Amino acid sequence: MTQPRRILITSALPYINGVKHLGNLAGSMLPADVYARVMRLKGHDVTYICATDEHGTPAELAAQAAGQSVQQYCDEQYEIQRRAGEGFNLSYDWFGRTSRPANHALTQHFAQMLEQKGLIEERTSKQVYSVDDGRFLPDRYVEGTCPHCGYEKARGDQCDSCGRLLDPTDLKNPYSAVSGSRNIEVRDTVHLYLKQTGMQDTIRAWVNEKGANWPQLAVSIANKWLDEGLIARSITRDLSWGVKVTDTDGNPRPGFENKVFYVWFDAPIGYISATQEWAEATGKDWEVLWKRDKGADETEYVQFMGKDNVAFHTVSFPVTLLGSGEPWKTVDKLKAFNWVTWYGGKFSTSQKRGVFMDQALDLLPADYWRWYLIANAPEGSDAAFTWEGFQAAVNSDLANVLGNFVNRITKYCASKFDGKVPEAGTPGEAEAWMERELAERLKALSAHYEAMEFRKAAAETRAIWAAGNEYLTKAEPWVKYKSDVDGAAVGVRAGLNLAAIFAIIAQPIIPEAAKKVLDALGIPEGNRTWPDWQDKGLLDALPHGHAITPPEVLFQKIEDAQVAEWTERFGGGKA
Ligand code: MF3
Ligand code: ZN
Repeated sequence: MTQPRRILITSALPYINGVKHLGNLAGSMLPADVYARVMRLKGHDVTYICATDEHGTPAELAAQAAGQSVQQYCDEQYEIQRRAGEGFNLSYDWFGRTSRPANHALTQHFAQMLEQKGLIEERTSKQVYSVDDGRFLPDRYVEGTCPHCGYEKARGDQCDSCGRLLDPTDLKNPYSAVSGSRNIEVRDTVHLYLKQTGMQDTIRAWVNEKGANWPQLAVSIANKWLDEGLIARSITRDLSWGVKVTDTDGNPRPGFENKVFYVWFDAPIGYISATQEWAEATGKDWEVLWKRDKGADETEYVQFMGKDNVAFHTVSFPVTLLGSGEPWKTVDKLKAFNWVTWYGGKFSTSQKRGVFMDQALDLLPADYWRWYLIANAPEGSDAAFTWEGFQAAVNSDLANVLGNFVNRITKYCASKFDGKVPEAGTPGEAEAWMERELAERLKALSAHYEAMEFRKAAAETRAIWAAGNEYLTKAEPWVKYKSDVDGAAVGVRAGLNLAAIFAIIAQPIIPEAAKKVLDALGIPEGNRTWPDWQDKGLLDALPHGHAITPPEVLFQKIEDAQVAEWTERFGGGKA
């Protein structure tokens, strides 16, 4: 094998407010998990880090709606999200929280470094103030009429109708999202501004260098921002929940006693602080992943995110990292996704449109969803979830193509060859064909994963399973058995080895089903890696005489009645 690579993987940190829907899962965490699993199978040294993004107005507002303290609310939601991730077999090495002390400390550290470099200044600006609530109303705390499209429930930070980013003072007829009060004034308030203008050339040079490894979508988003010119952005807010603004001694910064850092300033720092938490808990080294002077230049850093997050990862967060003047690691490869839609529309809890992660697991095992979402990853464009598409993918790809193959060959081996890998027979034309198919397709599969092309990887995986079925049709062990038992033995032996290979390459996408197959084939845990099987070929990877047992049913088909019921319950049909 080639030299193991050291790979750091992060997926965009999910907001704490509420369980994520299947679209959120498919656009960051799930592909990151699949990629992490592939790279581990190939023997690389992988660290996959994620965390909940816990600050900002959405958390405060949701806590208020739930009648809880923000801390209580976040504690509960964190547990729920952690369990949902576990249920989906997301193989995080660490799932942290941006509200933990490590992130507070590191956020304050970055702010101080940026200030030392002259990149931070205090500025007075006009903010929306609610007289009745006795507080400023940043971001989503204020709602009103969008100045661009006239939508009457636009939020202070963004209009949900036309999608434009807003400043709270842009809103017409503003009202408080806390109390509904329209007794609103605009008052002066002081905030810290990050003078991104001073980093324009540095970021441009960095994008030119690093962007060579990013998809076009990411490069063009970064360049659009750079072309418009980076402007100073405020990195504090008039809120109480968040990272406190301190001076170098750790005391509250005068005038900032009732302010915290803006959530988009501290959240990406969470990638680093969650890695620190992981290191603290496991005794591992976080610096080799994050500090260029401690070996991180030899670390590959891969980020996964939805397209709305790209600007923050290609411009804003790099300003923090590079602006600090310290040798922090920055992203090498970046994978951005479009949206998974619900029949072309939005997922919505209130309108009962779409399935959320916890609900999905009540209906069917994680593998079913994982397969469909990866096979239909929103890569080139948005991808619509439909029950019909989901049913077809599960019934055809999983149950028919993979499930039947494994069942057929293992049951036949059990009934005719005593459940042992047969030894006899001479390989012929069909085996030669299958070996060529495998060699070519496994190479293509590796290349798709290397390029982080998930749809293509799933399609190639399915094509390999399908080729196995075609092989059995050519080899016909059940027909041969009547006149040529040794000839049948070759087919069964190849078939069992194929079942093993199919499961090995299926592990990243459908880990539970793959494990059932590998357990049934008696393949030891330590022997389930990728290159081993690729090199051993079709006929001899499983020792001759080795005992196998047919696995229990791998996949249940989805019935039309279930589709009808779920459509009723979660929406479907026409958008
Ligand atoms: N919580 C954000 C979202 O869901 C993503 C934050 S990514 C991070 O869109 F880098 F800031 F953490
Ligand atoms: Zn609008």
